[in-house]
Amino acid sequence: MNRKYRKTIIAGNWKMNMLPSQVKPFADELKAVSPRAKWCETVICAPFVDLPAAIKAFKELRISVGAENLNENEKGAYTGEVAANMLVDLGVKYVIIGHSERRQYYGETDFSVNKKVHAALEAGLQPIVCVGESLEEREMGITLERINLQVKAALSGVSAEKMRRVVIAYEPIWAIGTGKTATTEQAEEVCKLVRDTVRVIYNDETAEALRVQYGGSVNAGNAAELFAQPDIDGGLVGGASLKAEFGVVATA
Ligand code: PGA
Repeated sequence: MNRKYRKTIIAGNWKMNMLPSQVKPFADELKAVSPRAKWCETVICAPFVDLPAAIKAFKELRISVGAENLNENEKGAYTGEVAANMLVDLGVKYVIIGHSERRQYYGETDFSVNKKVHAALEAGLQPIVCVGESLEEREMGITLERINLQVKAALSGVSAEKMRRVVIAYEPIWAIGTGKTATTEQAEEVCKLVRDTVRVIYNDETAEALRVQYGGSVNAGNAAELFAQPDIDGGLVGGASLKAEFGVVATA
């Protein structure tokens, strides 16, 4: 509602794309397309192995770097996993938690998402928590209930003070990577619901300070209209974040 409290945040999600050796050339390409917009915070979330190169290459562009996942435990015998404090030690600022692809392919649940949110916040990271309904849920008319539950579960036990570092990304599953974007009305309706859910759990101040992103086939052509909605404070961008077009989205 009152955008003056909230800085727009555009985050790229590279998913399992981009070799470490491609990071620097990509950053150079991005630099040529878009001088950074001061009112907007830009983040690139990258695979673990790309993170050191990304931190180095994006520093000059003032683009923060995020991871795409973390393990909910602090440390220990968890072969192949990465802990929150390892990311912090590298200079990572953000982490995507509960992306629908992780829920769908790697068995993440509302419960594990909540544990990861706590782990991220404990270590000092800023979680970008993803929520979203499937096409079946939308067609059944239970979108709002589904999102409400996901938001409540993800934030269970999170203090109002820690909420200042949380970003929530609304990503309808049917719009991810499909080229099928939600209409601005659909996106705004659900982003508003996310904010109102936070208002009920916490208070007006926390709700008004919360940054809510829309994600799902955001591109240079539709970004400006989506981000102009009162409850949409930016986007989580997959496919378009792999191209220099991301520079256009980030300044939309
Ligand atoms: P997309 O992905 O922009 O390619 O639809 C968004 C996401 O999964 O975060």
